[in-house]
Amino acid sequence: MITVRAPATSANLGSGFDVFGVALDHPADVVSVEKADETTIEVTGAGSQFIPEDPKRNTVGAVVEALDAPAHIKIDKGIRPASGLGSSAASAAAVAVGLNELYDRGLTREELVPIAGEGEAVVSGEAHVDNVCPSILGGFTIAANGDITTVPASIPLVACLPEIAVSTRDARRVVPSEASMDDVVHTVGRAATLTAGMCRNDPDLVGKGMHDRVVTPVRAELITGYEMVREAAFEAGATGVTVSGAGPGILAACHSGDRREIASAMVDAFADAGVDSRAYQTRIGDGAEVL
Ligand code: HSE
Repeated sequence: MITVRAPATSANLGSGFDVFGVALDHPADVVSVEKADETTIEVTGAGSQFIPEDPKRNTVGAVVEALDAPAHIKIDKGIRPASGLGSSAASAAAVAVGLNELYDRGLTREELVPIAGEGEAVVSGEAHVDNVCPSILGGFTIAANGDITTVPASIPLVACLPEIAVSTRDARRVVPSEASMDDVVHTVGRAATLTAGMCRNDPDLVGKGMHDRVVTPVRAELITGYEMVREAAFEAGATGVTVSGAGPGILAACHSGDRREIASAMVDAFADAGVDSRAYQTRIGDGAEVL
């Protein structure tokens, strides 16, 4: 039996829609895989009641098929589904890493990324890899045009998760099909700034680079209290705030001494909007680990 811990992730980071992602130091999914003639899936933990155990409908079924590696799979969810923290991606990443080891497939971590990405298609309707990439590789990742670049940054973060669900499918439906040249230039500039910030481990540059005028504004409308939470996080010292993944999680970048205050400001602002939430004080961390 092989057990793998795969971290939650935050993708997009505002300006890098379907391209940028970071591994979060915590929370994480823990997955065990054991050889079997037929694949079975057992899910426990956060939000497990909403996750199908049928391999055809679970994100990890596609990974099993791609690796031709049937197994008994036990998934202990540390990451609630429909959170914006890469819940399905973490399970897919853990299973890809675990089955590669269990069946001695000899694939590199980079080769496992598109395989785990197939699992994403089951959940969101499209095989984008911006969440599985950091969950497998760790750090800050850039997945563009089939190439993957990683930067081992370590920026402090707060991820605040409200008790509302936004499905990735729904959040992808509202993404505009066109943008003005002004908004594109603005967002490309911010993405470049963010990348420089990651290379320099500079929370101020990263925060500034998170601003996006194309996708984030329409998605923010799906999250009750978004503007209040964003403002509260900035007032408490955040250097940048954006929707985490497809939402409803909200991600703030900051300096490490400010995390506690930002976390409580975000939770309080959600409460003022009538929404319960919890905040993770975390940082950019490592990728999937075989335990
Ligand atoms: N890039 C994806 C999105 C991440 O924002 O829709 C969520 O899986």
